Amino acid sequence: MKKLTSLLFLICIIFSCGTKQSDLAIPVAYLQLEKTTLEIADVVTGLDIPWDIDASIPGELWFTEQKGLVHRMNLKTGERKVMLALDDVLFRKSYGLLGMAVHPKGNYLFIHYTYQVNDNDLQQVVNSRLVRYDIHNEELTNRKVLLDEIPGNTYHNGSRIIISPDDKIIFSMGDAGRTDQTQRDDFLVGKIMRLNLDGSIPEDNPVSGSPIWSRGHRNPQGLAFGRNNILYSSEHGPNNDDEVNLIRKNANYGWPDVQGFCDQPGEQEYCDEHQIMEPLIAWTPTIAVAGTGFYDSPKIPEWQNSLIVANMKGRALRVLNLTEDGEQVDQEHIFFQKYFGRLREVAVAANGDVFVGTTNTDWHPRFQPWMYDGLPSGPDRILRIRAVNKSEMIDSLPVLKEDDEAMELMSEGWQNPVGEEELAEGQKLYIQNCLACHNPEGTGAPGLYPPLANTNWVTGDKIRLIRTLLLGLSEPIEVNGETYNQEMPSYAHLSDQQIADVLTYIRNSFGNQADGVLEGEVFVERQSLNK
Ligand code: HEC
Repeated sequence: MKKLTSLLFLICIIFSCGTKQSDLAIPVAYLQLEKTTLEIADVVTGLDIPWDIDASIPGELWFTEQKGLVHRMNLKTGERKVMLALDDVLFRKSYGLLGMAVHPKGNYLFIHYTYQVNDNDLQQVVNSRLVRYDIHNEELTNRKVLLDEIPGNTYHNGSRIIISPDDKIIFSMGDAGRTDQTQRDDFLVGKIMRLNLDGSIPEDNPVSGSPIWSRGHRNPQGLAFGRNNILYSSEHGPNNDDEVNLIRKNANYGWPDVQGFCDQPGEQEYCDEHQIMEPLIAWTPTIAVAGTGFYDSPKIPEWQNSLIVANMKGRALRVLNLTEDGEQVDQEHIFFQKYFGRLREVAVAANGDVFVGTTNTDWHPRFQPWMYDGLPSGPDRILRIRAVNKSEMIDSLPVLKEDDEAMELMSEGWQNPVGEEELAEGQKLYIQNCLACHNPEGTGAPGLYPPLANTNWVTGDKIRLIRTLLLGLSEPIEVNGETYNQEMPSYAHLSDQQIADVLTYIRNSFGNQADGVLEGEVFVERQSLNK
């Protein structure tokens, strides 16, 4: 017994459980609202892009990592288990394992993820599916595909899943780049959908025999039910007009013809004609609104009847106080701006605890680093926010306040300029690694080694180009009308920066002119290919 007590004591020192032995979360800061003081604590650290978080089973936290893992955690003991490691997920940039929901009764898990359709790693074709598992004791069993072959793309694959108060699956899907299909009821892209728990179509859905509940969405990645069972969604806009919408049965949200409110030339007419629902609120420049939760617990009176929206680019948590009827946003509050970096997901537990997932290790900061000064470096974490008594506060921790105004955001419209340094480095690497076959002038050798001058392989699709170096090439290929069929070795042993430099060099030599390749672009392909 003595041993056990000292062990507990040791654990408590490590996890600083203090007076509350059952709480393994580690406080990192406080947030002072008008009256209430909130404690922000680390619940899970060391994560790689936690994408979805579900707190609907009391005492448990379920969360995913985008690369294909589903975790279940006992909040009392801190015990954590990987419930699922997908072996057919296609993880790259914004896609992979996306939405997840656990049924509040604890009997089902629902997930939505992307997979590769063809077997060509140089040009992958992406689809996605919605899948249900039974949660049986400690295992997931009876995998059942509810929706399959949802067309995908290298962007805008959605998604979010929640269970409605009337026990239906609500599932949001992005436009998958198919803007001509978001208004059409014969395609599932750009929709919010509603299904029975077994995947069948509810009889009272607006389009007979279809899961479609609402249409005209771009990329909704937040769903929450408020008072009176009102459904809200958050949705990524293009360079303008991120939105929070109130979702009604059979309504049309206007994408791609209407962006944000019906306030641009031509939009008003289209809105009248097509009965477009305008958002409750829109943001330009965009802040990348993602996971959304509804808060209504008296534990944080300032946040009652509010939507809590995670912002990735905006690097903040926005709390939107709703009007009594829930039909409008009354006030907008900004918290944590820049402090924890990019925030992707929010989950509100029945006891009033709020869980927030960071996403600083994803692709975006690697592609557009100029937007992210002072970004906390990874790994990612899940934070818990809850009200505390002043007497419980640890003096040494910072006390944050509401942000007065939104920070200025850098434009995304930026091409990677080709620097002298990268070119010089790239030239060196070219001489060492490529010149023997492709020639000093990039002309190749007839019938053996293809040219690098003026070829679509070099100046075209960067993904294919980067992957050519990571994977090598041994299939017959056609370059400028000639067929080549020799072995091109893999250069996966070069660093991301070296591959970026040599590719930047060949894209800007031998008469070629194209934008440079970023280290982050190589990182993403290597991560996705597991090379
Ligand atoms: C041992 C010879 C060899 C070396 C060294 C080599 N390549 Fe290649 N490369 C080839 C061959 C052969 C192909 C065509 C492969 C096929 O037919 O499947 C090719 C194809 C390519 C292509 C696509 C087709 C084109 O010509 O646009 C690119 C781009 C390319 N190489 C870039 C490079 C770069 C960059 C390096 C150095 C880091 C390099 N290669 C080093 C032999 C080589």
